[in-house]
Amino acid sequence: MLNRVLHNATVATCITGSEPYGLIHNGAVAVKEGLIVWCGAVDSMPDELTALPMHDCEGGLLTPSFIDCHTHIVHGGHRAGEFEQRLHGATYAEISAAGGGIVSTMSATRAASVESLVATALPRVESLLAEGVSVIEIKSGYGLDIDTELNMLRAARKIQSLRPVTVKTSFLGAHALPTDYNGSKDSYIDEICIPALEKAHQENLVDAVDGFCESIAFTPDQLERVFIKAHALGLPVKLHAEQLSLSGGATLAAGYNALSADHLEYLDEDGVRAMAKSGTVAVLLPGAFYTLRETQHPPVEMMRKHAVAIAIATDCNPGSSPLTSLLLTMNMACTLFRLTPEEALTGITRNAARALGLPDRGTISPGMIADISLWNVSHPSELCYRIGFNPLSQRFHSGAEL
Ligand code: NIG
Ligand code: FE
Repeated sequence: MLNRVLHNATVATCITGSEPYGLIHNGAVAVKEGLIVWCGAVDSMPDELTALPMHDCEGGLLTPSFIDCHTHIVHGGHRAGEFEQRLHGATYAEISAAGGGIVSTMSATRAASVESLVATALPRVESLLAEGVSVIEIKSGYGLDIDTELNMLRAARKIQSLRPVTVKTSFLGAHALPTDYNGSKDSYIDEICIPALEKAHQENLVDAVDGFCESIAFTPDQLERVFIKAHALGLPVKLHAEQLSLSGGATLAAGYNALSADHLEYLDEDGVRAMAKSGTVAVLLPGAFYTLRETQHPPVEMMRKHAVAIAIATDCNPGSSPLTSLLLTMNMACTLFRLTPEEALTGITRNAARALGLPDRGTISPGMIADISLWNVSHPSELCYRIGFNPLSQRFHSGAEL
């Protein structure tokens, strides 16, 4: 049923207005053919909409469905052993230098078929969907050879056909140098990463191009070559930047009008200014901050000062953020980064849509796709405040009731 009026609800539209969260009390949302056609106070609803089937929300809260705009949810294996190593004192960078980290997930991912990549990702995907998620971004980056990078993206596309979710893919060939590669990082970019990107694009597997800018990964110069290719193919870019040190990635990304720069704990004010100028969204990843017991906080106050849009995401991955809950991510963003609950909700709706280049999602307003979630809470701050509690009562995907 793609036509209906959702009524008897508080509506958090996530549109900036006079009310925090863009709240509408005694609200209603009208959906036709899977699109939102009207939203407002129920007593101002146009007469012609009263003919639509009515859905009583019993006083609950409607929000745009959530968008997880940064995940590595498709991967082989897990790294619980590294979790133990870190508890015995090893750092993320040390484990990576010793051949663990991303490269160990690479081996498990290369050994997996597309079918098994899909099968192992699905429970993680379902965990997100159970909390009102409608869009998931999924990166490659654990194949690090041409065939496996493509297989990861094929698995990501397949997930969209198996579950009520929209998947946006990011090609992350420049994630790490595989230890079995006989050559330099420069030649890896030229011989593996860029040819894999071209092939994946030919197969229509790529919605955006990502990279990891860090001393343990790639330099701004190396990543710029990937961005030049992305632009030539007409693909938007994004970047893992300033996660473990200030490497200049955010400024590079802004120079290529990146959709987002992600992590950003070590970002400086010049980088914030560059992102403000290009409209690049800052995607903060509290799950990785928490897991790595990072102490450097992303410069949230500076981002506010320069009006950089902030999104948050799980960064779901087997190493630095084995997290499959956006509700917990919101709570962590508030507690660890001091985001307000309104910023946290905007960060997984309106700004997360922007980080993925999705102009028709992320708010409850006319013309948007009707990805809407109904929560058994009375105020949106409750979504951030509880820990380990899921008050989702219903999710609508493109207007369809699930
Ligand atoms: O986003 N920062 C780089 N990449 C991932 C970590 C991947 C891994 O450790 O497997 C991240 O945190
Ligand atoms: Fe990541």
